[in-house]
Amino acid sequence: MRKHLLEVDDLTPDDVDTLFATAAEMHDVQRRAVKKLPALRGRTVINLFFEDSTRTRSSFEIAGKWLSADTINITGKGSSASKGESLRDTVLTIAAMGVDALVVRHGASGAARRISEWVDASVINAGDGTHEHPTQALLDAYTLTRRLGELGDRHVVLVGDLTHSRVFRSNVRLLRMLGARVTVVAPPTLMPSGVDAWSARDGFATSWDLDAVLPTADAVMMLRVQRERMTGGFFPTAREYTVGYGLTRDRLALLGDTVPVLHPGPMNRGLEIAADAADAAQSLVLDQVSAGVAVRMSVLYHLLAGETA
Ligand code: NCD
Repeated sequence: MRKHLLEVDDLTPDDVDTLFATAAEMHDVQRRAVKKLPALRGRTVINLFFEDSTRTRSSFEIAGKWLSADTINITGKGSSASKGESLRDTVLTIAAMGVDALVVRHGASGAARRISEWVDASVINAGDGTHEHPTQALLDAYTLTRRLGELGDRHVVLVGDLTHSRVFRSNVRLLRMLGARVTVVAPPTLMPSGVDAWSARDGFATSWDLDAVLPTADAVMMLRVQRERMTGGFFPTAREYTVGYGLTRDRLALLGDTVPVLHPGPMNRGLEIAADAADAAQSLVLDQVSAGVAVRMSVLYHLLAGETA
């Protein structure tokens, strides 16, 4: 494994196998009454979050704690960043305290890479703007693999606000690395510019027609409509979005009751995913969350414990 995990391209297929094997062991630890392992005792992990987060931040914190690392959370709003301190000064200040890993979420694409150039600590990208979110892709693929087995030739359909989604960018790369067939579906206004060249290079399909694609899906991942990143009107009304691209009760019926449904969260219930779909037996939404802790334990372990642990 490389020192940092900034994007999916930092990983080889062998790294992913190793991470998944360790994550499976960590998943077993999660089911024990006493969850602590001593692997990262004496190591310090700082979560540096300049954007809101529920599951990513808490699952990195729990993952660090269950490995016995000292974990601390710093958020943009409660830190000196709100007093005008530059990102570089904030990061150098924290690094000067002697940290082993920085888990970073930031609104600017490329922020995690910049930070990795300033510090000696390992940097894990927990979401940078619309760029990447590699641990989300790892936990999604891990969850899918546990449900479907090997992903080779499985057809995974990603639906939603692709323009603003770092989850989509990381997922497409990882799913293709694992041999899945991938189709991404969005209204024309939320299909990223340049997607045709990209889909030709990475070998995934694009569509504007969800109803045509759904019957061929082995798994469906719904992505959040990211209103906070939208500067203009990307669709006329929420109702129109749901009619064209929501996983509604009718579309769930079209899908059948065995095809898994995923969503990285947070969900806009009633917009991109109906309550019936979010709460269906085939929904893996909460499995994704618990897999997230195991996968992040695995990532922290492999980045920090090294071969001597
Ligand atoms: C995603 C994110 O923040 O990129 N959420 C997450 O990490 N689980 C997706 C989103 O915000 O829609």
